[in-house]
This record gives sequence, structure tokens and C-alpha cells, in this order.
Amino acid sequence: MRVVPIPLRNAFDHINYLLVCSVKREAVAVDPYDVPRIVAEAEAQGVTITSIVNTHEHWDHAGKNAEMKARTGAAVMAPRAAAGTLEGLDRLLVDGDTISVGAESVTVRAVPGHTMASIALFGVEDDGTPFVVSGDTLFGAGVGNCGYGGHAPTLQETISGVFAPLADETRVYPGHDYLKRNLAFTLSIEPGNAAARALASLLESSDGSAPHFTTIGEERAINLFLRSGSPEVRANLELPAPTRDTDVFLAIRSRRDHW
Ligand SMILES: [Fe+2]
Repeated sequence: MRVVPIPLRNAFDHINYLLVCSVKREAVAVDPYDVPRIVAEAEAQGVTITSIVNTHEHWDHAGKNAEMKARTGAAVMAPRAAAGTLEGLDRLLVDGDTISVGAESVTVRAVPGHTMASIALFGVEDDGTPFVVSGDTLFGAGVGNCGYGGHAPTLQETISGVFAPLADETRVYPGHDYLKRNLAFTLSIEPGNAAARALASLLESSDGSAPHFTTIGEERAINLFLRSGSPEVRANLELPAPTRDTDVFLAIRSRRDHW
């Protein structure tokens, strides 16, 4: 499978995706926002969009379903837990489901926290690299906020239970490109984080046209929400000891909300 990111460079820094099966020349569109761009990209790739998948119910991820379906005729799929807030769904997705991408497939995992209905899609690229399309749950050097239908303790369980165990080489494809700003947040709490500093300066020297997609291995080094055990993070948050990893995560989430 090929993952084709479509960075929109709009006010939300959306990244739309096509998941493409090169054999059958079919594609799944994930969280479409700029419908004309996605349709044009599918045409440029010579593939037919057969499914539209929402990672969660927020309008900037699921609000263009009808327009996408009108343009492509593709089936619309969204988390079952979001069914009450979305219209025109052809298939309701639950943890463990598979979605066909031509001759290949991706697996659905429930990843509640940013919203309680959120899902992520897991697959393998043509070169053998495992990947996750993470919606607004895991971002480069960050996680989703919990202010619009989410729950921070649940998000902590999702990050530690679903994402932390993934193999280092797993590529992360998030719903927004917040990496640069998130790295600045990392360095505000953990100024001694050499990996975050190196990546921040790499981004500073690039023209920014193509997003940098991290791996889970990189996230372990640069994402505070996976670094609750870091002594520097704990010291700079000035939390009373002993503190559980969960409390550190919640403190970081709260800091980021007000940063
Ligand atoms: Fe969202």
C-alpha cells in the first residue's frame, strides 16, 4: 500500500490522505477536507476512490462526506460511536474491523480520548514499513486536545496502551501538521531534549512544503506525552513526588492547553 499525504497548508494545517493499492488502482480517502484537491490527486495518481473514512466526528474531518460521496460515489465509513452525530454513513466501524484498500487492507483500532469515538488505521506500506493514520489522537510531538468531546485520562490510556507499544519503525501520519509548534512546546518543558532541538532546527532550515512524518521511535524521543518518565520533564513540571506517569501526562496536557 502507498500512503499519499495531501498537506493542505490551510489555517488548520490539515493533512488529508489517500491510501492507495497500486495493484487494483483503488484508494481510500481519509478525513477529506479539501475535496477538489483530493479528487485531483486521485486523478493524478490514476486511482479510483472507493471508500471515505473518518477517524472521528469533528467537522473538519467528517464535514465533507456528502460532497466527497457526490464526487466519487464512494462508501462513507465512520466510527460506530460517532454514528449519532454524523449522517449518511454506509458502514460503522469498530475496533478490529478491516477496511479494504483494493487488494490490501488496513485495520481499525479504537483510540478514544481526543473524542470518545476516535479510531486509527493501521497498515503496511509497500516497502514493509508499518504505519498508523492517527487522526487527531497522536500528532508529531504531541497529542490531540480533549476540549471538544474528549477525556484526558482516557487519552492517556490510549497513548500508553495502543501507541507506546508500537514498533519504533512505525510511521505516524497525523490529521494535522503541528510538528513545528509541538517541538517548541517540548523544548519549553524539556530544553535539554537534543532530539527535539535537532529536529526543530532541521524544520527551520527546510522550506516547509512537505511535512516531516515521524516514526514512533522518534516520538519516544521528542513527544512529551510519551516521556512521562523523563527526569527533566518531571523536574520542570514541578510536580510533587512520587508522581505516577498518568499524572505527568495529565499535567503536560493541561500545560499544553494553556501554552
Ligand atoms: Fe479533532
